[in-house]
Amino acid sequence: MHAPIPADRPFVTANFALTWDGRVSTRKLTPSDFSSPADKKRLLEIRAEADALMVGARTVATDTMTMGLPVETLREQRVARGQSAYPIRVLLTNSGRLNPQLRVFGADFSPLHVFSTTRMPKPTREALGAKATLHLEPGKRVDVPAMLGLLRKLGVRHLLCEGGPTVLRSLLEADLVDALYLTLCPRVFGGLRAPTLTGVAGSFLPKSTRLQLEEFEVLGEECFLRYRVQRPSVL
Ligand SMILES: NC(=O)c1ccc[n+]([C@@H]2O[C@H](COP(=O)([O-])OP(=O)(O)OC[C@H]3O[C@@H](n4cnc5c(N)ncnc54)[C@H](OP(=O)(O)O)[C@@H]3O)[C@@H](O)[C@H]2O)c1
Repeated sequence: MHAPIPADRPFVTANFALTWDGRVSTRKLTPSDFSSPADKKRLLEIRAEADALMVGARTVATDTMTMGLPVETLREQRVARGQSAYPIRVLLTNSGRLNPQLRVFGADFSPLHVFSTTRMPKPTREALGAKATLHLEPGKRVDVPAMLGLLRKLGVRHLLCEGGPTVLRSLLEADLVDALYLTLCPRVFGGLRAPTLTGVAGSFLPKSTRLQLEEFEVLGEECFLRYRVQRPSVL
């Protein structure tokens, strides 16, 4: 993740595991647990580089994440680099429908920011108020570029998105992804309604995103890939 940091937002990286047929989950949106222990180790190494980790409302619920960093050496390396031991945690929900009993709200090892709208039900606001910083915008949707601008002001230089596909799609639609880590796994799910990297097959993105391969490693039966998003250079 050594790259120029934009002035007005963090450098945004996404990390996903993919089946051979390009699915990130099953049609029942079961937890994304189909990759190897080596991939899970790599996921934590990538997570350890980030100042903040962001996921969407469904991923934090289905994958029962705390969004932590359960490897002491990785935390020590962060501190030696001048980072906090754990990345800041960021949750996204337009509707504001989050279950306050989720595991993530029981963990207080790093600040938790919830970006949502004033649609968030009052009981949820009250339940989450002591556990997270709530950023509630008027209107129906979170303004993603404005959210990234605020995170940059809070000192976030590297933001890692670990899903899900709906969040990644919204970032790609706004041309706000800079790098992409993928793990290609030896599994085939099939299924029209099993989500791909950008959700269930549906409408095209406003424009295609061009990627440049920067790293390629075969480890065991998986293939680890790192891409940089290509943008036309501004002259
Ligand atoms: N293979 C992998 O690497 C991987 C990684 C992550 C997740 N997954 C899997 O993906 C599945 C979940 O997919 P998903 O697309 O439904 O998950 P998701 O993106 O985590 O959650 C979708 C929800 O997040 C909120 N959201 C998304 N984008 C937003 C935005 N720009 N602004 C505000 N809120 C936003 C919305 O919540 P509201 O509806 O509340 O407004 C939306 O319904 C699960 O099965 C999970 O295990 C796989």
